[in-house]
Amino acid sequence: MCGIISISSDKPFTSEELLTRLKRLEYRGYDSWGYWNGKKLTKEIGRITISDDKEPVTQAISHTRWATHGGVTQENAHPHRAGKVTIVHNGIIENWREIKKDLEAKGKTFLSETDSEVIVQYLNHEREQGKEIHNIIPAFMNTFKGTFAALIMVDGDENVYAAKRDSPLALGICDGRLILASDIYAFSDITKQAIFFDNDEWAIITPKTYMFYKDGKKLDKQPQTFEWETLEEDKKEYPHFMLKEMHEEPSVNRRLIDSLATDQKESFEKLVSLIKKARKTVFTAAGTAYHASLLGASFLHQCGVNAQAIIASEFENFITIDKDTLVIAVTQSGETMDVIEALKYSKANGATVASIVNVPYSSIERMSSLSLQILAGQEVAVASTKAFTNQASMMLALAQAFGYENGLDALPKKLSGILSLEPELKTLAEELHEQHDLYVLGRKLGYPVAREIALKIKEISYVHAEGMMGGELKHGTIALIEDGVPVISLIYDDDAKMRGSTQEVRARGARVVVIGTTKDADIVIPADSEAEFAILASTVGQLLAYHIALARNCPIDKPRNLAKSVTVL
Ligand code: F6R
Repeated sequence: MCGIISISSDKPFTSEELLTRLKRLEYRGYDSWGYWNGKKLTKEIGRITISDDKEPVTQAISHTRWATHGGVTQENAHPHRAGKVTIVHNGIIENWREIKKDLEAKGKTFLSETDSEVIVQYLNHEREQGKEIHNIIPAFMNTFKGTFAALIMVDGDENVYAAKRDSPLALGICDGRLILASDIYAFSDITKQAIFFDNDEWAIITPKTYMFYKDGKKLDKQPQTFEWETLEEDKKEYPHFMLKEMHEEPSVNRRLIDSLATDQKESFEKLVSLIKKARKTVFTAAGTAYHASLLGASFLHQCGVNAQAIIASEFENFITIDKDTLVIAVTQSGETMDVIEALKYSKANGATVASIVNVPYSSIERMSSLSLQILAGQEVAVASTKAFTNQASMMLALAQAFGYENGLDALPKKLSGILSLEPELKTLAEELHEQHDLYVLGRKLGYPVAREIALKIKEISYVHAEGMMGGELKHGTIALIEDGVPVISLIYDDDAKMRGSTQEVRARGARVVVIGTTKDADIVIPADSEAEFAILASTVGQLLAYHIALARNCPIDKPRNLAKSVTVL
């Protein structure tokens, strides 16, 4: 969360270029933004607007915020400045209260409620004691607890300084300029060369040179070449990125399936043998990726593999990990902090760590001993769609290696068929969009799908939706069912238990919508297997959620309070 970027350039550039690049990171947080270019400090609330400031400069730092400490105000927006020092920060400082108290006792006055301002006040105070910034940064890294990717400028100094612990940071090596940024999207249109910061490294950057340090030693870090399609800034004919990304599902699904038989064949086989070797396999993930993980655990479980899915933010509290455990992180961004923490815990307990990611070169990919890519291409919309479909398909491919029913190869074509149901789903959404509460029921593979559909509805349309196990309904939630309450029932192949749960809500007046495989379903999915049904029904849910949000006039691609990459705990 929060995106940071700096440019250090031989040739002068304007704020327009800086902010155009910052906008590429806006999906990381979009409640306020700002920049410092050595001459001007700008801080604004809301989405980034590209400035018409034509003043040429050769270095600048900027930030797009997802608020953690302190509300969305101009004072709390970054950059923060104290004396001659200016910083932008992504991460969370844990011991900010103690340090702030200490600095206040030394006479410093704080202008914001943020933990980040404590960094700049600290750096400035140390400078005032006559210390040099390159000596202060290692002291800052020793003193401050928590996570940070921080970019620092000092008035009259031609360097940009950068420090990293746990929050992502990369240096793009571009022609005549060096760009520091939270991720490679910020510069992937102009270079394929980058250096990725590892934990507790800091660097001094000029337009042409970079020096990396760790633990008092100079490091010899070399750029690596990355492959990543350039950002699709254009929504093409679609009104929203979310709709465009759903329409990409058939093609990116085909790309994944093909790559598992070619480019990724070797890695895929390695992952299969790691699963075979492990006493148990544990998927860990958050949100949508957790729902894909639940599908994966169920697929493998049905093949006799000891597999579980544990939500990353509660990982330590619900699972015992040892050296015979294989932990597989499932993540679109590869940067989710809860997942990173779960992996650190797993490594500390001797487990082997692998990952299934979308964004290459991400922190999680780099901390895994083996990583497979889902190849969904960049997701711009905050709500994950095509990444979920490919995560679930990767799970199905893994299960097939253990003898699970086939069907993956037909999926891309069937996904195209599902997209053609959009007019029906639009009509249904128009009927449902004014409801305050909605329930989605599923069983077996339908259970993760029920949760995923409910999550999509909640996050983009702000309608309260609960996805749950059909069998669990009668243990409490059924008390909420009354005349007209919408209930979506996911029924594969006339499943008797799901039919039963559906009858129970219908008998209490619910407005039931059946998404199923039999002809009498309201939305008929032509699935030949339960796994296929689960994946296709999820896409149906994505389209339904999209049209509910559209009918409610919601800002679909950037819902309130959310960010695409959740890099705080
Ligand atoms: C929902 C959504 C989130 C993410 C979650 C994990 O549509 O996108 O629930 O799935 O924040 O993110 P990644 O997959 O990047 O680890």
